[in-house]
Amino acid sequence: MDVKKIAVIGSGLMGSGIAYVSAWNGFDVTIVDINQELVDKGMERLRNDVMTGIDKGKLSITEAEGLMSRLSGTVDTEAAVKDADLVVEAIFENMEVKKEVFGKIDAIAPAHCILATNTSSLSIDELASSTSRPDKFVGMHYFSPVPAMKLLEIVVGEKTSDETIAVAKAVGEKQGKSTVLAKNSPGFIVNRLLMPVMREAILMYERGEATKEEIDTAMVSIGNAPAGPFALGDFVGLDIAFNAMSTLYREIGDCFKPPETLKALVESGAIGMKSKKGFYDYRAESEPEAPKGADGNWIVERLNMPAIREAMILVDDDIANKEDIDMAMKLGASWPMGPFEMADKYGIDKVREFITKLEAELGECYSVPKMLK
Ligand code: NAI
Repeated sequence: MDVKKIAVIGSGLMGSGIAYVSAWNGFDVTIVDINQELVDKGMERLRNDVMTGIDKGKLSITEAEGLMSRLSGTVDTEAAVKDADLVVEAIFENMEVKKEVFGKIDAIAPAHCILATNTSSLSIDELASSTSRPDKFVGMHYFSPVPAMKLLEIVVGEKTSDETIAVAKAVGEKQGKSTVLAKNSPGFIVNRLLMPVMREAILMYERGEATKEEIDTAMVSIGNAPAGPFALGDFVGLDIAFNAMSTLYREIGDCFKPPETLKALVESGAIGMKSKKGFYDYRAESEPEAPKGADGNWIVERLNMPAIREAMILVDDDIANKEDIDMAMKLGASWPMGPFEMADKYGIDKVREFITKLEAELGECYSVPKMLK
C-alpha cells in the first residue's frame, strides 16, 4: 500500500516532530489534539522547527512552503482519520487513554488504514487488542528530537502482518529514518540496553567503587561515549529514566530494579537539568567528590559487559537481530559502537570470561547468555 495521508494524534513534542518529518518528505499530514489551543501550540512548534530548518540550511524557502502546505491541524479526530492511510498516535503514555483513543479511531478509519503507536513502554499487543485490526497495528517508536534523530524502531506485535511491517518501514525510510525491527517486548531495543548501563553505573557508585565523575570521564574519554551515564541521565531527565527502568523492573524482574539513589532523587524532585539538580548540581559550582582511584579501563569494561549480555539475550530470545541492535544503539543512543561490534573488539572469549566471573560474584542477573554457551 502506498501511504499518502497521515493523521498524527497528539500535537505535543513527539507528535509535532513526526508531523514535521512526514510533511517535509511529501506526506499530507493532519495533526489532532484535544483543544484548539493545543493544536495551535503544536502548529507553532512546527513552524519554529521549520524556521530552525531554514536557519540551519536544511530546508530551502520553497521546501518550507511545500512542507507547510501539506500540514493542517484540527480538534476533529473523525475528519483527520476518515481518509487517512496511516494514523500515528503520540498522546500521553497511559494505557487506558491510548486504548480508548484507538477504539475510537478504529471505528472511523478506512479498512486499509494502518494504526501505529509511538509508545515507549506500553505493550503493542495490548494496545492492538482495543482495535478490530491487530494485523494492521504496529509500533513506530521515534526518538526525540524527531527531525534530528535518525532511528525508528518498528515494534512488531504478535499479530502485526508482514504487509504492515513493510508499510511502516517504507514510511520511516521516506521520512529519512533508518529502521530496525524489534518484537514487542519491554523497552524494545534502545531502552532495554541503555538501562543496564545506567543501573550498573549507579550501583558501582553506591558500592563506593568509583565516583560519578570517574565513571562519566572514563565512559567519555576511554569508552568514546558522547556522555557518561550520570550526565546522560541528567540530560534526558531522571523521571524519564526512572520510568523506563521501572517498566523493565515490572515486566522483566528484579535485575532491572531501579537503584535507591535514582529513586530518592526522583522522589525529591531532583530530576536532572530541567530541575537544575539531578546526579549533579547545576545551581552552583560544586566540588567533585574525592576520587576513588578506580581504573578507567575497568569502569568501561564493567559497564559495557552487561550491555553486551543484554544484547545477546535479545538475540537469544528472537526479539531483534545483531545488525539491527548495533544500528539501534549507534543511531538511537549515539554509542560509538554497537554491542556486537564491542564484543568482537574485546574478543568473544574475553566477553565469556568476564560475564562468567560476574555471574560467579553477583549471581543470576549476570548469567551467561545462551549465545556464549
Ligand atoms: P506531550 O505531552 O508533549 O504530548 C502529548 C500530546 O497529546 C498533548 O498535546 C496532549 O494534549 C495530546 N493528547 C492527549 N490525549 C489526546 C487525545 N485523546 N487526542 C488527541 N491528542 C491528545 O508528550 P510526548 O513527549 O510528545 O509523548 C507522546 C508519546 O510519545 C508518549 O507515548 C511517549 O511515551 C512517546 N515518546 C516520547 C518520547 C520523548 O522523548 N518525549 C520519545 C519516544 C516516545
